[in-house]
Amino acid sequence: MKVIYPGSFDPITNGHLDIIERASAKFDEVVVAVLVNTQKKGLFSMDERIEMLEELLYDYSNVKVEKFSGLLVDFAQANEIDAIIRGLRAVSDYENELQLAHLNRFLSKDDNLETLFLTASPKVSFVSSSAIREIAQLGGDITGLVPEKVAKKTYKKYQGR
Ligand code: PNS
Repeated sequence: MKVIYPGSFDPITNGHLDIIERASAKFDEVVVAVLVNTQKKGLFSMDERIEMLEELLYDYSNVKVEKFSGLLVDFAQANEIDAIIRGLRAVSDYENELQLAHLNRFLSKDDNLETLFLTASPKVSFVSSSAIREIAQLGGDITGLVPEKVAKKTYKKYQGR
């Protein structure tokens, strides 16, 4: 089974990594798909996000990193994806994720694109990219929430701002 794990990954966190590792163990192929968002600049450029992901995921032979723009359903269908993977951290995630899952299935050919949810590990279930950006910007400690190299690069972004 070939699955897609889409997201903004601005930056990748240990929560994302946990989901990718577990998906890699359960599915034949995992495409980590980074959304090219033309409306939102983001902290890291697309190239920087892809580079960090590729470096961190180098050892996972069934995981590949791609970027996509437009509708996820179109990218998924063009790449013969069987299902979308999303992580659920808390009940608060559920509402948005449920809508997204229904929309993607509705938009897919023959209502065929399923979304499968993995529950975030409790160790990292409170981590989000937006929280990482805010903590780093305010000089807090993000050690243990993102990989070391990502932490360094995130702090660097805010130096001199
Ligand atoms: O990491 P995020 O920001 O939670 O990821 C959200 C993402 C990229 C999965 C979602 O915004 C998405 O799929 N965007 C592409 C446009 C799309 O297909 N939207 C769904 C129908 S409105």
